[in-house]
Amino acid sequence: GVVILDFGSQYTQLIARRIREANIYSEILPFNAPIEEIKKHNPKGIIFSGGPASVYEPDAPKPDERVFDLGLPILGICYGLQLITHHFGGKVVKAERHEYGRAELEILNKEDLFKDFPDYIHVWMSHGDRVLELPEGFEPIAITFNSPYAAIRNKDKKIWGVQFHPEVAHSYMGKEVLRNFAVNICGITPNWTMGNFLMEKQAEIRKEVGNKKAICALSGGVDSSVAAVLVHNAIGDNLTCIFVDNGLLRKGEREQVEKTFRDNFHIPLIVVDAKERFLKALEGVEDPEKKRKIIGNLFIEIFEEEAKKIPDVEYLVQGTLYPDVIESVSVKGPSAVIKTHHNVGGLPEKMNLKLIEPLRELFKDEVRELGKELGLPDDIVYRQPFPGPGLAIRIVGKVNKEDLEILREADAIVVEEVKKTGLYRDLWQSFAVLLPIKTVGVMGDYRTYEKVIAIRAVESKDGMTADWARLPYDLLDNIMRRIINEVEGVNRVVYDITSKPPGTIEWE
Ligand code: XMP
Repeated sequence: GVVILDFGSQYTQLIARRIREANIYSEILPFNAPIEEIKKHNPKGIIFSGGPASVYEPDAPKPDERVFDLGLPILGICYGLQLITHHFGGKVVKAERHEYGRAELEILNKEDLFKDFPDYIHVWMSHGDRVLELPEGFEPIAITFNSPYAAIRNKDKKIWGVQFHPEVAHSYMGKEVLRNFAVNICGITPNWTMGNFLMEKQAEIRKEVGNKKAICALSGGVDSSVAAVLVHNAIGDNLTCIFVDNGLLRKGEREQVEKTFRDNFHIPLIVVDAKERFLKALEGVEDPEKKRKIIGNLFIEIFEEEAKKIPDVEYLVQGTLYPDVIESVSVKGPSAVIKTHHNVGGLPEKMNLKLIEPLRELFKDEVRELGKELGLPDDIVYRQPFPGPGLAIRIVGKVNKEDLEILREADAIVVEEVKKTGLYRDLWQSFAVLLPIKTVGVMGDYRTYEKVIAIRAVESKDGMTADWARLPYDLLDNIMRRIINEVEGVNRVVYDITSKPPGTIEWE
């Protein structure tokens, strides 16, 4: 496969992802990985990622110099290109004009990197430095208005460089650039799949954990579910999953988790019924952030209690995804010492467990692909995100048992009706919210005075920004009628048409 040396770009994982999409194996190593380490991976080609530094600074990150003597093709991206230029005696300077965003690339040479490309493509630039003079033996193979050396090569030395970012979605045919490098230039056969990823990850974890014991906090969401099944494949019943029923779950969630993990996958599963404890802790609490804190802390407390009952646990499995990983220079082994993490509300350091995060290189849709590969049911694989504090932050204000029942029923109707129309997978989230107000209605010949349910349905790529979904009127109508007819205590249904920003997705 390809080894990617990470110089700290926020896009490094995207490079790996694009290469995976082209069915080619890749691995990310720190920029300063020694040559012996690089060789161990037996690469057919090397990619230098971008990065925030300037090559002319004294402490600029540099690779092991011997990487240039391996005789392997090298592709430098952005900082990577500048590094190559600098290394071979060219000149890199601070650009008078920074180049950010879209640029039109004119392709001069279509022999290798741009094989079968059109004459012009739109690419994404993001750089402050630029190449002023090429080193000897290098030639430009593409240009933009601002960059006479937007793409370069030295065929004899087998070195290519691009100033733009082929890995970002906004670079047209960017994936083909990376594919061309791997296939045409490095000569790699594209036959790698997510199935291979799975086998490799499992082997890696088996080797690391061996006969020691691990626990996993299972939430029933896709990330922790995929992580649990993957690790169970690797280490068998040395993994125990803990599922905390906090009483704030959606309808049927606990039963589904029990059925899937205990009955179908035969994974040791501890289900903790903590409904009453959570209700009691939340009693009278109105402030959303207080609710979150109480729920997060109690979860940790209960998880710890349960974990202590299992002797000699050394590892904690977490379904952390790449977008959750903040460090820029990434990739260690499968384990690093535990640190707080929002997904599980920050399991504390004093538990002193080593972390297994098999999904930390992946994006959500790749995790779903893995879930399919592992045989998880669609209901889990394509499940919409659900917040840790659950229904407690979808009852505006104080939480009690009766309101939880009302909301759970209403929410189940929303999900069921949305699924019937086939829209469930296109929506980031679709759910019900219970409002702490009563309004007047008329049912039969009687005046009613009951609660309001708000429907929230949004489209989003990552939850950071979102737009309200233009749900069909007939769907909204069905939801309204079913909720009012079937859920006692509700006489009015409204639809939330707020985008994010300015609204948030959840009401609290
Ligand atoms: P907001 O409401 O901030 O939500 O627009 C963005 C995404 O994050 C989820 N969310 C949470 N997830 N704990 C979680 O695990 C939380 O406290 C929490 N609050 C919001 C929300 O469901 C949406 O997908």
